[in-house]
Amino acid sequence: MQKFSKNLIRSFPSRIKKGVINMNHLLITGGAGFIGANFARYVYESHPEVQIVVLDKLTYAGNRANLTDILGDRVKLVVGDICDAPLVDRLVSKADAIVHFAAESHNDKALVNPWPFIQTNIVGTYTLIQAATKYHKRFHHVSTDEVYGDLPLSEHGSGDEGKFTPTSPYQPSSPYSASKASSDMLVRAWTRSFGLQATISNCSNNYGPYQHIEKFIPRQITNILSGRRPKLYGTGNNVRDWIHTNDHSAAIWDILTKGRIGEAYLIGANGEMSNKAVLEMILQLMGQPQDAYDVVRDRPGHDLRYAIDASKLRTELGWRPQYTNFEAGLQDTIEWYTSHRSWWETSKAQVEQTYARHNQ
Ligand code: NAD
Ligand code: DAU
Repeated sequence: MQKFSKNLIRSFPSRIKKGVINMNHLLITGGAGFIGANFARYVYESHPEVQIVVLDKLTYAGNRANLTDILGDRVKLVVGDICDAPLVDRLVSKADAIVHFAAESHNDKALVNPWPFIQTNIVGTYTLIQAATKYHKRFHHVSTDEVYGDLPLSEHGSGDEGKFTPTSPYQPSSPYSASKASSDMLVRAWTRSFGLQATISNCSNNYGPYQHIEKFIPRQITNILSGRRPKLYGTGNNVRDWIHTNDHSAAIWDILTKGRIGEAYLIGANGEMSNKAVLEMILQLMGQPQDAYDVVRDRPGHDLRYAIDASKLRTELGWRPQYTNFEAGLQDTIEWYTSHRSWWETSKAQVEQTYARHNQ
């Protein structure tokens, strides 16, 4: 397997070569968002020695309530922007390691207004890696499988499926994925040229609690809970490779603590399903007729299929997904949204108005 940087060992301090990395003070960017908050909670619960500082701008996607139950002596929230160089410099200088989740993350929004994606995903990542390089801090960059573009639908379910691997070419197709691909390239370049002590992970579609209701699964669940009809883009044949966010958290921890510097790891749990099949499962679990949804305008440039070959992560680091029953995970997720109405109800009408403006 090829490293994303070839001359790393020469440029790194010996404590990194030996793998002796202190992780007691973690800086988590974007830790008030969906995956970042679940990761902060995962570390809080499973590694009691770790102190966490979350840096989050609290955009529309960030929510202090995602962390309320763990904020205290061990977990602090700093409200700020990853593009704010003096703030980033100060926080990075005090951390042992940085796990970088902060991003503009929604494809539909990027298609309407790409600018915040360029600013946060590219300039924000640049700002962080400048500081991490300056202070020789361990840096983990959380990225997406979308940097590889999409796969043909014809191979889905054929038994001999082509999947993304660490050597797949970068071919992003949307403004969001292009901005994430750009950020990956910056991390790769800083690692090779300036000795940044970095790893990258490229994960598939996450589901679970605290996911913003603009995203596919929570949008459909909360549509049903609020008396609206679910919305399916186009044919519904597009395939996503679903993974529970807790499995993503465990993979990131393994990469952070055991991964090789200069390596990119793909994260996925063999969870390929068409959007139509996922929606039908939600309808069935929520006691609705199978056809109780609207077909709406398709997403421009809609990626057909994502599928991850995670064998490097499994073989090298021994990671295994724990949430292997998608239907059970989905049922838990439905129960979470059902019992946390106050978490999403206030923003529901506005999210749906925005979609309606674009016939989605
Ligand atoms: P999210 O939109 O739920 O959360 C993003 C968080 O980043 C929010 O809390 C937001 O306030 C914060 N943020 C945005 N701009 C910021 C800025 N300039 N400064 C500081 N904070 C800022 O996103 P998510 O779904 O939790 O995704 C987290 C990361 O994981 C992203 O980097 C995304 O590309 C990546 N990822 C997501 C998925 C997925 O399925 N959602 C899959 C693979 C990778
Ligand atoms: O693959 C990883 C990526 O997964 C992450 O990098 C992104 O941050 C994350 O948002 C997600 O991107 P997608 O575009 O795949 O996720 P989204 O939830 O927006 O859509 C999932 C699929 O469902 C996609 O094929 C579009 C479709 N869809 C989406 C919505 C919101 C619908 O059919 N109806 C909808 O209402």
